[in-house]
Amino acid sequence: MSVNQSIKPVSLEYKENLTIGGCDLKKLAEKYGTPLYVIDELTLRGICRDYKEAFKEYKNIHLMYASKALCTSAVARILDDEGFGFDTVSAGEIYTVYRAGADMSKVLFNGNNKSVREIELALDLKVGRFSVDNFYEAELLNNIADKKGVKVDILLRITPGIECHTHDYIQTGQVDSKFGFDLSQVDKIVDLIINKYKNLNLRGLHAHIGSQIFELKSFYDEIEILVREIARINKKFGLKLDEMNMGGGLGVKYTEDDTPPDVKDLAKAVAEAMNKYSVEIPTIYLEPGRSIISTSGVTLYTVGSSKVVPNGRKYVAVDGGMADNPRPSMYQAKYVAEGVNVSEMAQRPKEKVTIAGRFCESGDILIENIELPELRSGDVICVYNTGAYNYSMSSNYNKVEKPAMVLVNNSQSDIIVYRETLDDLISKDSIPDRLRK
Ligand SMILES: Cc1ncc(COP(=O)(O)O)c(C=O)c1O
Repeated sequence: MSVNQSIKPVSLEYKENLTIGGCDLKKLAEKYGTPLYVIDELTLRGICRDYKEAFKEYKNIHLMYASKALCTSAVARILDDEGFGFDTVSAGEIYTVYRAGADMSKVLFNGNNKSVREIELALDLKVGRFSVDNFYEAELLNNIADKKGVKVDILLRITPGIECHTHDYIQTGQVDSKFGFDLSQVDKIVDLIINKYKNLNLRGLHAHIGSQIFELKSFYDEIEILVREIARINKKFGLKLDEMNMGGGLGVKYTEDDTPPDVKDLAKAVAEAMNKYSVEIPTIYLEPGRSIISTSGVTLYTVGSSKVVPNGRKYVAVDGGMADNPRPSMYQAKYVAEGVNVSEMAQRPKEKVTIAGRFCESGDILIENIELPELRSGDVICVYNTGAYNYSMSSNYNKVEKPAMVLVNNSQSDIIVYRETLDDLISKDSIPDRLRK
């Protein structure tokens, strides 16, 4: 079983209180305050090894972490240490991985509307590949590269026309998508690169079909299209494209209803699809995000108020919600939670409750109808599988400080993101002189 198939971090232990990485979660909440993001290093390194082990048969496999899932300096250090490159989509992500000491030759710059400033930064910091998304960007990148006197290795992002079964907002490979060239545009852009854009060096194709995918068939179909398209381009234009980036997308287990495949089975599906078409594509890039970081992360919250409404539903409010985890309100994402004071809670009667956030939206509900031992004000709860797309999509809605994040391992906890302060919240504000008292 690979790490993405577990709801909870691999180092989790049920002692008097829940512990992760040998650290008592109740004590972590006391020490660092809540809400608190906790990242388990053992789980993170575990999934990295699952990927490396599963794909070890491939000599030219490039494992990149899609840093959009969670991009902090310490996480980037661990991923670089595990030999991963990075899929980045902004100057901020590029700068973070650069400052964390990543090997920039293993960084891909991706995105559907890269700015001039971002392209210049990426070229200055020598990212290894650009994934060119559209005609406008190809021309822009070529012009900037020309001015800088450099030649840029690129992949073309294509929309393979695959509809995988996941939430509409996280599907990206269907024809009606804002990302990439559709297949009818590929010849035109290849022709432009060969004949006009002399500062672009086309190395291969890139696609990403969506996120939280459970069906290996979707990846199989995607590879089929990438491989066929590469072979077709090579033949038609006399090229030797030899790189295929199949994106990320492997799902994780948020609740018992989720059935993500083992990483080994993903590797098997890739092998089968490649063998079927027996095309020489020596280099394969994979850029998983969610499946790398999700399981290693949990969020701790403290229970505050509660109320029972006339229809009998009990709301229990915690000190965080949609600003630190927008996924439930954005796309009805489901989570599992537990109280951290395990042995004490075992004595309490169970009840069905709805965990509400503290933000001013009725939709700010973290978990609906979950069965838990009766929760009391001051209790700390642990929500599982919050490593991906929680902190990275967090906001300061209601002018609330973003939580801290700690890394746990070997009974040690280290701050990797400091909690914001009230002064942080107004640090970028400015009052024009004419309004001052
Ligand atoms: C181009 C690209 N690659 C990789 C990923 C990572 O996907 P996931 O987190 O599902 O693995 C994304 C996510 O949106 C993406 O857009």
